[in-house]
Amino acid sequence: MKRFVLICAALLAMANAGAETRKQPKKVPFTHETVELPAVEPKVIAVETGHTALILQIDKKGVVRTVHYGDKIKNPGQFLSFNPSYNRSVDPGALIYPAAGGRFVGQPALSVRYPDGTRNTELYYTAHEVAGNKTTLHLKDYVTAMEVDLVYEAFPEADVIASHAVIRNAGKAAVELTDFASSSMTVTARKYLLTHFHGTWAEEMQVDREMLGHGTKVLESRRGIQTTQCNNPSFLLSLDTAEWSETTGEVIAGSLAWSGNWRISFEEPESGAMRIVAGINPYASAWPLKAGETFTTPDMIWTWSGQGAGQASRNLHRWARKSQLYAGSKITPILLNNWEGTYFDFNTKMLLDIIDDAASMGLEMFVLDDGWFGNDYPRNNDRAGLGDWELNTKKLPEGIDYIASYAHDKGLKFGIWIEPEMVHTDSNLDRQHPEWIVQSPGREMEQIRNQWTLDLSNPDVQDFVYGVFDRTMSLSDKIDYIKWDCNRSITSFGSPYLGPEQDRFFIGYIQGLYKVLDRVRAKYPDTIIQCCSSGGARVDYGQLRYFNEVWASDNSDGDSRIRIQYGTSLIYPACIMGAHVSVVPNHQTGNITPLKFRFDLAATGRLGMELQPKSLTPAERAFADRCIKSYKQYRDLVFGGDLYRLASPYDGEESALMYVSEDKSRAVVFLFNLKYRNRDRTAAIFRLQGLDPARTYKVTEQNVDKSCWWGNKKSFTGDFLASGGFNPSLRKPHDSAVFLLEAL
Ligand code: GLA
Repeated sequence: MKRFVLICAALLAMANAGAETRKQPKKVPFTHETVELPAVEPKVIAVETGHTALILQIDKKGVVRTVHYGDKIKNPGQFLSFNPSYNRSVDPGALIYPAAGGRFVGQPALSVRYPDGTRNTELYYTAHEVAGNKTTLHLKDYVTAMEVDLVYEAFPEADVIASHAVIRNAGKAAVELTDFASSSMTVTARKYLLTHFHGTWAEEMQVDREMLGHGTKVLESRRGIQTTQCNNPSFLLSLDTAEWSETTGEVIAGSLAWSGNWRISFEEPESGAMRIVAGINPYASAWPLKAGETFTTPDMIWTWSGQGAGQASRNLHRWARKSQLYAGSKITPILLNNWEGTYFDFNTKMLLDIIDDAASMGLEMFVLDDGWFGNDYPRNNDRAGLGDWELNTKKLPEGIDYIASYAHDKGLKFGIWIEPEMVHTDSNLDRQHPEWIVQSPGREMEQIRNQWTLDLSNPDVQDFVYGVFDRTMSLSDKIDYIKWDCNRSITSFGSPYLGPEQDRFFIGYIQGLYKVLDRVRAKYPDTIIQCCSSGGARVDYGQLRYFNEVWASDNSDGDSRIRIQYGTSLIYPACIMGAHVSVVPNHQTGNITPLKFRFDLAATGRLGMELQPKSLTPAERAFADRCIKSYKQYRDLVFGGDLYRLASPYDGEESALMYVSEDKSRAVVFLFNLKYRNRDRTAAIFRLQGLDPARTYKVTEQNVDKSCWWGNKKSFTGDFLASGGFNPSLRKPHDSAVFLLEAL
């Protein structure tokens, strides 16, 4: 007994000694009391388009779940008692906008750091309203007073739903958002085939495909601005299949309308459902929200197709042309750009000669690329001058107006290149405003293409960048087109302007860019503006609210372009795709692709040329004239028609696509053979899509004297062309053909 007492005393002494040194936990008023949630009348809300419905179920606690995204159904109210039968004790199910907290342990759409350090948020339905095609759901956390409005805008004709969140701090103290997605979607299938994009300079919009399983797949960018090395804030998800199909099966496609850092995650938890969360990437961007402040996210664009990927792309294209693109499907002129023809080495006389040639070939616009500016640090190569946007008077003493007027006199429009977000290490701008440059104190400022990025989160820089556009436009009243380039992404990020609020930098940059573009568009509504970023990496539906088109890639080699343009077409419509014919062999890959193949391929987008016309032989020039003339006959279909992809270059042997007018009275078909097809094999068959089966179409091959198809100049019914199809004799690699179809 004595021994036992001694041991107890010793243990007690040890415990007391520990207690002295151990930090005492702070007393919190932990009472087991919970805030009571008001009862909610269970209901179903359907956001409907012409053929699709997103159906949301609200239970008696006010939890909102996605119960269906797919075909429109007659009575969505039947979903009221739908029980998806997952185990809610492990996973609270398909929450419409999952917040970090409560039972939810997956990738959140929203997470918040509150002033007391707590991180839990649980969102419950409070009300909703429907105004026209817009449905707004109000959600609230009853403990912290965080509020989220989810806005769903339906585009009935295109079967697209655009969705964003407005996050409001209705509490009394400042909070910090550490996740703030635009939208979340949950779907359930047996298999998930994800198609997404990757790429690099000269290899943009490459298609990647993979089956998803349990765990999380994250697509994202942390480059600040999307240039050169690129993926794209878009995807297609084929359901219940391991095979890509253009024409069958369910496909959900999504695209984030944001030009900065983004993240789209696909998470398959134990339930087997697939949760997609899409929005701005919160990387290094915790967003402070004072009491009463709101944060509005960009739109996430969703579409659903029950007829394969082709319909999903067409939905996005139609929506973009009608509701999102700055200039819709307005035709951009066929242009000649001098970049690959002269690079930096030109003078007025050379440019006027090129304009003469362009005019005689039937082109419609001349674009003067890089190299026209800088005096103290003349831009005669890519090692000087960016930032000093005054005319190089030594190189072009007659001035821009002289050249633009010359072009106009010849019947051509005139365009010019700028790269206003950048500064060169050798420039007056760098000397005058080193504090305007993106940088992090004490760290090396890495140069990419010998240049640095200006800090667009700074309002003074926004004024400067707007001023570059404005001053360039003032060089002549005959400037019709601006090529807005951006040749590097952001590294060693940081803003001297933002001081301690560095977390605002990445988002502030893009907000600043959009502010500049708003001002540009207010003053220059009719100027055609091309978005370029060493090619096509900066293509997204945020940017396309301001730009008419995108330079799809610096790479104009046919074999590369066919893959780049195919990838681009999965998400973006042809009217935004700048595609130029350059010399053979092309400068980027040195590939020898025939001029006809190049022309036929460039004609599937906005056709242009990028070479010194004098380098063409008379025969090549005559051929170019012919292609340009024929393109003018059918380009309205490329710009405004519906795209049907008939064969993919990623499958190896051939590539084919067609555009059909909305009224199905005309179509243009492009066929490309990629591999040698020996004479013992039958000709490849291309079954056409999208035509009116009952109408008869006259078929005319373009750009050739001798046709590759026995059916040329004959007429066929739409149903014949869809089942018998075309079987032209395209046997050599790079054989190609263009057919125009006109209903009789
Ligand atoms: C980038 C563009 C090119 C050209 C050059 C000029 O690389 O992609 O088309 O404008 O800049 O420097």
